[in-house]
Amino acid sequence: MSSLQGKKILLGVTGGIAAYKGPDLVRRLRDAGASVRVVMTASAAKLVAPTVFQAVSGEPVRTDLWDEGAEAAMGHIELARWADVVVIAPATAHTMAGLAAGLAADLLGTLCLVTRAPLVLAPAMNHSMWEHPATRANHGVLAGRGVRFVGPAEGAQACGETGVGRMAEPAEIVEALRGLAGAAAGLLAGTRVLVTAGPTREPIDPVRFVSNRSSGKMGFAVARAAAEAGAEVTLIAGPVTLPTPAGVARIDVETAAQMHEAALARVASAHIYVGAAAVSDYRPDVVAEQKIKKSSDTLNLSLVRCPDVLADVAALDQAPFTVGFAAETEKLEAHALEKLHRKHLDMIIANVVGGGLGFDRDDNSATVFWQGGQEDIGQTSKCELARRIVALIATRYSATRSATTPIRSPRAGGRR
Ligand code: CTP
Repeated sequence: MSSLQGKKILLGVTGGIAAYKGPDLVRRLRDAGASVRVVMTASAAKLVAPTVFQAVSGEPVRTDLWDEGAEAAMGHIELARWADVVVIAPATAHTMAGLAAGLAADLLGTLCLVTRAPLVLAPAMNHSMWEHPATRANHGVLAGRGVRFVGPAEGAQACGETGVGRMAEPAEIVEALRGLAGAAAGLLAGTRVLVTAGPTREPIDPVRFVSNRSSGKMGFAVARAAAEAGAEVTLIAGPVTLPTPAGVARIDVETAAQMHEAALARVASAHIYVGAAAVSDYRPDVVAEQKIKKSSDTLNLSLVRCPDVLADVAALDQAPFTVGFAAETEKLEAHALEKLHRKHLDMIIANVVGGGLGFDRDDNSATVFWQGGQEDIGQTSKCELARRIVALIATRYSATRSATTPIRSPRAGGRR
């Protein structure tokens, strides 16, 4: 059975020439068993008549926020809540900018602010517009919020030029939606997941601290992906400036000791623990009560070890399925496997950092290792990387639960 069977899809059509492929997309979605309702922007309605979409969708087409008759039949809030997924194809540069800024200037923008359904964009624009720093920035903002992108593809464009900016073909968009429906089918339904994210700060004096370059983006993306997969997620976050993903309970901490305390206090009820935080390994031995004055040419800080949250979680008698991260500047596999074994982890996600890679970026690649297996995930957005990681965690977690013999060295007690 198609995973799109019975799905309610809200299709936004905006003013790109590729709007002419929209009716084909609607037909394919309906053939796959989905119900489709179409919302067009004013520009889109100049390119393709709304009656065409009405004929292929079998539903009235909305073009205007102020249409009293349409609002009486199904108000825009109701329409936004009706959708299982919102897909905008084609999505113009203007539409991406409006979404990134959170504009509710028209019906489609308003619906996108109201809906809690996943949002999928199939951008279509001239390649120079796609490459423009403004569009790059908007793409980053939207991807960082969990918006999925299909395409754009490279090739001949309506303007006669060639480059990246062609809308993905309708068949490809349907495939992406099928994948999304499969992922959302509740891979982690019924599980409780505890995630740590971000750096920690270890105070030196009232105004200074020791910390690291972690932005928290990877851990937040994992928390979001786990929530999307149906888990009940608690996120313990170090000091970062990221918004809390929808449906995730967040606890803010500052130091490694606070993160340790927060994690150990909650881990008993978690089925899965993902340690994505870059927890400080050392903290100043003594925290000066007053600001340290620059009275000498050199200053020595005496540092002592911080608690290892991940190792302590994995060492519990009733340890959850425990996942760690290894950010390495060299010998990725050797260091990652050493950590997997030394800390008794079920899985480790290893990536290369330094030289512009890893920290404080919107994309990343990783190799995931577990006892007896590994998988490479190529360069992609941190959101997509997180979804792939969550899918692997779900697979390994259910394999370990159903296994008659433990796949890792047994400890007293065992996994819940
Ligand atoms: N971690 C932790 N508590 C710490 C240090 C690290 O929970 N005090 C977790 C991180 O969240 C991550 C993993 O351990 O999942 C990283 O392993 P680790 O060996 O500590 O990595 P590094 O700190 O990079 O260690 P090293 O400097 O030895 O490479």
